[in-house]
Amino acid sequence: MKIDQSVVLVTGANRGLGLAFARALVARGARKVYAGMRDPAGFNEPGMVAVKLDLHDPASIAAAAERCGDVNFLLNNAGIARYEKSVLDPAGLADAQAMFDTNYFGTVRVTQAFAPALLRNGDGAILNVLSVASWIAKPLLAAYAASKSAEWSFTNALRVELKDSKVLVSGMHVGFIDTDLTKDLQVAKLTAESVVATALDGIEAGLPEIVIDDVSKAVKASLSAANAVYLAPPDIK
Ligand SMILES: NC(=O)c1ccc[n+]([C@@H]2O[C@H](COP(=O)([O-])OP(=O)(O)OC[C@H]3O[C@@H](n4cnc5c(N)ncnc54)[C@H](OP(=O)(O)O)[C@@H]3O)[C@@H](O)[C@H]2O)c1
Repeated sequence: MKIDQSVVLVTGANRGLGLAFARALVARGARKVYAGMRDPAGFNEPGMVAVKLDLHDPASIAAAAERCGDVNFLLNNAGIARYEKSVLDPAGLADAQAMFDTNYFGTVRVTQAFAPALLRNGDGAILNVLSVASWIAKPLLAAYAASKSAEWSFTNALRVELKDSKVLVSGMHVGFIDTDLTKDLQVAKLTAESVVATALDGIEAGLPEIVIDDVSKAVKASLSAANAVYLAPPDIK
């Protein structure tokens, strides 16, 4: 699809990767960029229309879908990560449920609500922001990884369901990015701007899967190997 003249809704567009996406979409000539966020008060970015949208609140999602009926590109970006010490600690279950409610169920809710407009408007796309963690897990990020695997699986099923439509279904996999979500991790990080540029190039090229960085490419390439990276992943501090 062409981003120039497209009408896009980005979830979680008030900060982090979502804000970088929304800015890049404006710069690439999108006709309208709806910036979805939980609290639009005080948000003022050139070329964007702030829209209240909370992934946990079906009424806010329905209202956003009603208001943004001209959307032809849905960018499911909003997500959360909570870090764990041990997968064996029952105290982690509440965080796991919160991550599934946002990353998996939230993405499903938004996609279901916006699907009628996307199918009606055509020549568009759905891009789900996944992670290298869809394919690799460690105790620190176990439930986050599971929620991203679930979101990856949903993306794959959605692609099959929409295969005869004019809506590209794509998922992007990426390693650590320099946003609030990773501020406590001492690891090499990509810039949000570089990630967004590769992702949007992938959408314009019609790619059903966009593997952004070398780490994600190496993990994907190893999945069928006897010594797949997920069997003994490198340390993260
Ligand atoms: N950073 C990384 O290393 C990395 C790597 C791979 C994938 N990702 C994925 O990239 C996406 C964006 O993450 P980020 O790094 O930009 O994180 P971030 O800086 O923490 O931003 C998260 C965004 O999601 C929004 N959000 C959270 N819960 C929401 C809800 N219930 N309803 C609506 N919006 C909600 C936040 O809004 P509030 O301001 O209201 O909290 C914020 O805009 C996520 O899906 C994440 O899993 C990140």
